[in-house]
Amino acid sequence: MAFARHSTWEAALLTFFGRLGGRVVGAPSILAADFAELAEEVRRAERGGAELVHFDVMDNHFVPNLTVGPAVAASLAAAVDLPIDAHLQITNPDNLIPAFIEAGVVGISVQPEVVTHLHRTLGMIRAGGCEAGVALNPTTPPRQIVWALPYVDYVNVMSVNPGFGGQRFIPEMVEKVRQLKEMTDVPIEVDGGITSETAPLVVEAGAQVLIAGSAVFKGDPATEMRRIIEAGERASQHFS
Ligand code: DX5
Ligand code: ZN
Repeated sequence: MAFARHSTWEAALLTFFGRLGGRVVGAPSILAADFAELAEEVRRAERGGAELVHFDVMDNHFVPNLTVGPAVAASLAAAVDLPIDAHLQITNPDNLIPAFIEAGVVGISVQPEVVTHLHRTLGMIRAGGCEAGVALNPTTPPRQIVWALPYVDYVNVMSVNPGFGGQRFIPEMVEKVRQLKEMTDVPIEVDGGITSETAPLVVEAGAQVLIAGSAVFKGDPATEMRRIIEAGERASQHFS
């Protein structure tokens, strides 16, 4: 049975980020996948050890790109076994959060740069039985979410400007992960330019969820996903 197809109360027991412990995991970003065979692309990455699907939602307002919405999330959740983490790179996320909850995703992250009432939005996500995340633009300081942290289940450190896959990793984001790790115990994702070369840098700084799009789908997704996870795991063992 797909992880995401549980009822609300069951989903609350089956949280993803809350049960991560200290593990490093790989999350393929569907942005770089072949959308005509999305479920199969996810299964390919799963064969390489992926444990979470990173589902990029873009609206051509917050970011200059347009992707997919709750209908595709619902179809994918029904077709694959991995849990889905929806990264809402959109203005007015409150309008779409109920539909993503209904679609069966396990986590929803929003960009605080475009959320006026962040406390309310995070509460809405949790009330729907999903884990609530904040995704920070590269220049958004960690202190911006200090007062939101009690209501946050994971943080996504954007290591490129949101909107497109295949961009270069911004190296200053390693220090940002380090600062966030000192502020909170919730799992930290890193999103953008993650490869087997950059994964160890962010894991050493405290990141646990390695989101990768182009580096996974540029070749055989199982091989490339495994390469990234193993690079991250080696760095984690080295520093634990
Ligand atoms: C960018 C997205 C990322 C993107 C990462 O706005 O949030 O998830 O897919 O792609 P890569 O791994 O190619 O940098
Ligand atoms: Zn993303």
